[in-house]
Amino acid sequence: MNQLICQRRSCRAFSDQPVDWEVVRGLLETAKWAPSGTNHQPAKVAVLGPETRARLSKALVKQFDAGIPPNPDYEYCPETWPVSYKTRRKACGRALYQSLGIALDDIEGKKKHKRRNYTFFEAPIGLIVFIEKGLPKGSWLDLGLFIQNFLLAAADLGLATCAQATLAEYPDEVRKILGLGEVEIVCGIAVGYADPAHPLNSYRTEWEPLEAFTHWYE
Ligand SMILES: Cc1cc2nc3c(=O)[nH]c(=O)nc-3n(C[C@H](O)[C@H](O)[C@H](O)COP(=O)(O)O)c2cc1C
Repeated sequence: MNQLICQRRSCRAFSDQPVDWEVVRGLLETAKWAPSGTNHQPAKVAVLGPETRARLSKALVKQFDAGIPPNPDYEYCPETWPVSYKTRRKACGRALYQSLGIALDDIEGKKKHKRRNYTFFEAPIGLIVFIEKGLPKGSWLDLGLFIQNFLLAAADLGLATCAQATLAEYPDEVRKILGLGEVEIVCGIAVGYADPAHPLNSYRTEWEPLEAFTHWYE
């Protein structure tokens, strides 16, 4: 098994250690080598240093605290998930809330954790991944390969990351603050150095066995 791939994990609490611009440049230079259909390279990225990251976070938290319903450019979470996915999602959420001592019926505790998402979990660097409007599903597939390249390249340098669809919940705010124009906001990525002692970084998610997702044919 490839250690880099198997040991990469999402980080939701970061240390104060800053991340050099040049390091982020290097990661993006690496990520850009992702394959894409006809090599059309659809991924676009906004890189936010601490000041802009904080400004965007403030605006997103304001929306959230005002109770404004999310209005993402695309559907990540459908209203109802098929049962097997629901089970995995529940296990993932349970592990996360357990790590923070939040009971499953603690609405305020859950809300407090959700709010952390909008601050990129206080990571020093935030990325916003976006894509030109109107590109087909295939381009979005390619985008995922780019994102994984980035996450792995970061892990290889000892950096911690978390891809965050939550950061695409108020895309109008993101477009306004970053001056991005008519694009679709896909997700954010928090980038920094992990705080290894934080309980949020203390658990691992579980994976299905090969038999659960493969079909083999002679
Ligand atoms: C596109 C994408 C969006 C995600 N959005 C969020 C998010 O908004 N908040 C969060 O805490 N984790 C988010 N995650 C992280 C997943 O929960 C995580 O990848 C999954 O539980 C597997 O755990 P691991 O990354 O530690 O291996 C996202 C992951 C991906 C790939």
